[in-house]
Amino acid sequence: MSIRRLPPHLVNRIAAGEVVERPASALKELVENALDAGARRIAISLSGGGLDRIEVADNGGGMTPPEMALALERHCTSKLPDEQIESVATLGFRGEALPSIASVARLTLESRPAGSDGWRRIVDNGAVVDEGPAALPPGTRVVVEALFARVPARRKFMRSARAEYAACLDAVRRLAMARPDVAFSLDHDGRRALATTAGQGRPDRVAALTDRDLADNAVPIDFVRPIESGVMTLGGVAGLPTFNRGVADHQYLFVNGRPVKDRLLIGAIRGAYAEMLPRDRHAVVALFLDLPASEVDVNVHPAKTEVRFREPAVVRGLIVSGLRRALDDAGHRAVQRPSETALAAWTQEPVDDRPGFAAAVAGSWPESGGYVGAANLVRDRPTFFTAPPAARAEPAWSPPPHTAAHPLGVARGQIAKTYVVAEAEDGLVLVDQHAAHERLVLERMRAALAGGRVASQSLLIPEVVELDEPACDRLESRLAELSDFGLDLERFGARAMLVRATPALLGQTDPRGLVADLADELAAYDQTLSLRERLDHVASTMACHGSVRAGRILSVAEMNALLREMEATPHSGQCNHGRPTWVKLAHADIEKLFGRR
Ligand SMILES: Nc1ncnc2c1ncn2[C@@H]1O[C@H](COP(=O)(O)OP(=O)(O)O)[C@@H](O)[C@H]1O
Ligand SMILES: [Mg+2]
Repeated sequence: MSIRRLPPHLVNRIAAGEVVERPASALKELVENALDAGARRIAISLSGGGLDRIEVADNGGGMTPPEMALALERHCTSKLPDEQIESVATLGFRGEALPSIASVARLTLESRPAGSDGWRRIVDNGAVVDEGPAALPPGTRVVVEALFARVPARRKFMRSARAEYAACLDAVRRLAMARPDVAFSLDHDGRRALATTAGQGRPDRVAALTDRDLADNAVPIDFVRPIESGVMTLGGVAGLPTFNRGVADHQYLFVNGRPVKDRLLIGAIRGAYAEMLPRDRHAVVALFLDLPASEVDVNVHPAKTEVRFREPAVVRGLIVSGLRRALDDAGHRAVQRPSETALAAWTQEPVDDRPGFAAAVAGSWPESGGYVGAANLVRDRPTFFTAPPAARAEPAWSPPPHTAAHPLGVARGQIAKTYVVAEAEDGLVLVDQHAAHERLVLERMRAALAGGRVASQSLLIPEVVELDEPACDRLESRLAELSDFGLDLERFGARAMLVRATPALLGQTDPRGLVADLADELAAYDQTLSLRERLDHVASTMACHGSVRAGRILSVAEMNALLREMEATPHSGQCNHGRPTWVKLAHADIEKLFGRR
């Protein structure tokens, strides 16, 4: 075996494996180049999800013909003037994108610096095939055609044009969010998909690119923390916990102006919202973290979407406290559902150490009593316990029914508008009303589907739900199957769906939230499966929307009805996401809590 140096075209193709994973990654590199060239206007046009054609035209500084030749060579960059990779201020710096893309597609590069003439250079799968004068306004235009057409191994892994387009749209959206000072436009198959005007403020730009409703359902983030080497700032917008989504795709994260998908940051967001969101729901956020270049290494991933922080704990702390503070300031109660740790604290801690309990006695207990300084026990705990109590108890007492017939007992009240408290013959039962009801709706839906089709209920006035185009495309491709689920939809222009009927057994439901979640759900699974095969996911997404929400006050009759139906329904002990819907504290456990045993 002899060792040899690989020829440049092969080296480029190997690099392309990492840099150009799919059309969206090529597009991202081209737009980044336009931004690095100082463009104020970037016009993008795609065909066939970017697999057939990608065009990016900018009005940036442009290149001279010799610069164009260099730009297409590997490791040639204009962006590390002082060779200090630690302090890189541009989006690009690796000098890999253009040669990599040109090695797996036909790439036409046209450029014209202000005050001189334009030039064109065409590279087809690694070989220069043509060059000569070109007519174009000052700036640069790059066209990428037939991406991977001659790399069948890679082409095979491409998803549908629709899915690739969705990824392209997402990439452009993120870059456009990072740069409100630049005007972006995106056309797909001749249709305008996105257009922004330059000079928008950041919150306006975020709302324009995501969801117009976000503006009313978010709080601004503006948080500064001094650190040794300077300051860290966190800006952007954070969606209210109630404005949550079923997937994490609606989290837009930027580090020093660079869109990233970073696990540490995603984890920090999850941590910040921990007690405010159910485990399977995700916050909608656009967060811009800025910190001194020495605090972050951006050169850890060929596509530059991951970063490494010098002090991860400090960054995490900034995000968690910045988000929490903003959400608290907005005066929104933090809890929808208590976390596992909250539950454990309740059952395992010594009783007088419970913050909620301590807070309640601190004001009234005599100073000389056993709880001197009880207020000190009120520590930084989940808001579930420190929020004002919202308990309701029914005065009339009836004996608990026989456990054998009614293991869940009789309702005695509701706490935090979220949990039903019931007394069974053998102990105390706590039911999560939303989780429990969701399970019941799912079982009903399953039963209805087994009999053919879920009955639908027409809306008096059909509702128009605005979504982005890929989301509408996904829903449109499943209209017939969704109709089996009792949901009657119709396409309504490029970016909206018309909801005509919703599944009857969901009762009054918010069509917008339901349809948006279903679109997310469709994006998350393999196109090749039918909806029926994914019945449980769709049904549980629907069930979630048809369920009694946490926060609704229930009458004793409603609570008892819920308990009885749970007893009669299979699998009702777990919600659709595998968590318990109810817990029981046996009499013996209660005695243990009070030290009687
Ligand atoms: N749209 C553009 N306008 C002006 N110059 C560009 C443009 N695209 C690429 N270039 C030049 O080509 C070089 C190589 O680009 P690329 O392969 O993406 O590597 P990098 O961006 O990491 O430098 C860039 O450093 C830049 O000088
Ligand atoms: Mg680049």
